[in-house]
Amino acid sequence: MSHKNIVVTGASSGIGKSIMEELLAKNDGSRILAACRHAEKIGDYGERVVPFSCDLSTKEGVDALFAKAEEVFDGQIDLYFCNAGAPYYERFDYEDWDRISRIFDLNTVAHIYTYSKYLHHLNGRPGRLVYTISAMGEMALPGYALYAATKFAMKGFQQAIRDETPENLQISCVYPVSTKTNFFNVGGGGRKMEPPFPVQAPEKVGKAVVKGIDKLKKHIYPCPVYLPSKVLMNVVPPVKSLYVYAQKGKLRRFVKRVEAEKRGVIEDIKLQHEIRK
Ligand SMILES: NC(=O)c1ccc[n+]([C@@H]2O[C@H](COP(=O)([O-])OP(=O)(O)OC[C@H]3O[C@@H](n4cnc5c(N)ncnc54)[C@H](OP(=O)(O)O)[C@@H]3O)[C@@H](O)[C@H]2O)c1
Repeated sequence: MSHKNIVVTGASSGIGKSIMEELLAKNDGSRILAACRHAEKIGDYGERVVPFSCDLSTKEGVDALFAKAEEVFDGQIDLYFCNAGAPYYERFDYEDWDRISRIFDLNTVAHIYTYSKYLHHLNGRPGRLVYTISAMGEMALPGYALYAATKFAMKGFQQAIRDETPENLQISCVYPVSTKTNFFNVGGGGRKMEPPFPVQAPEKVGKAVVKGIDKLKKHIYPCPVYLPSKVLMNVVPPVKSLYVYAQKGKLRRFVKRVEAEKRGVIEDIKLQHEIRK
């Protein structure tokens, strides 16, 4: 892992930021190109980190990041953390093609497109692509129908592509459980979300990811209780039913808050109308 040229996407906060800081803590001469939409939020980490602004939900954004990486790293990217992503937390009951496309563009299409770009960039040289998937890419929960769909898609993609990929490109996938990041602010449009249990600190995830990459792991599960819980839920299905039931309650409370908010806005509009009359 020493003296590597590394791209980290979604580096301004949460899991991406923790991965970047963990890589920097190793102080091994590696350099990082840190990407997100608002690179000014990344902060100053000195010469080892080059911040870069791009919208990774677009082809232009991903192309621009590769062009920048080739410029900064003299044409060699050794490690690529495809981490930027975002959730929706909602009751899925609407017809909105663009909204559906938006989450897939960032969480799925860009990540798949990155695979091809990176493979061509490597042109036979060794490299490693790391996908931040999610525990939700293996177990979908109420409120996260679209988000889980984007992550299940990535789980399927990596499974098939591993058997096609030339040996020079290694793929690692990360499956975090709920992690205390901006995720739970943006998902509900700034409204309070109750995360699924258990909840981890992003620093723990960052440490587990870098350790897993050091050990050349193909699949990284940062939460130690996740895999045993998965087995337990398969062996004793009522445990899974209880868990899902608790998540349904959280979604019900969330939807009630959204509806109360909407009613408040409508009441307010009516009041303004009355006043104007
Ligand atoms: N937190 C969790 O519970 C959890 C659990 C499992 C998996 N994950 C996955 O972990 C990854 C990171 O999420 P996080 O929890 O660390 O969330 P976060 O704190 O909200 O970080 C998201 C990062 O992605 C960047 N980003 C968002 N939209 C972007 C875009 N269109 N183009 C470029 N960059 C963009 C954000 O920066 P800008 O806003 O400046 O663009 C930020 O740096 C995601 O793939 C998420 O699905 C999270």
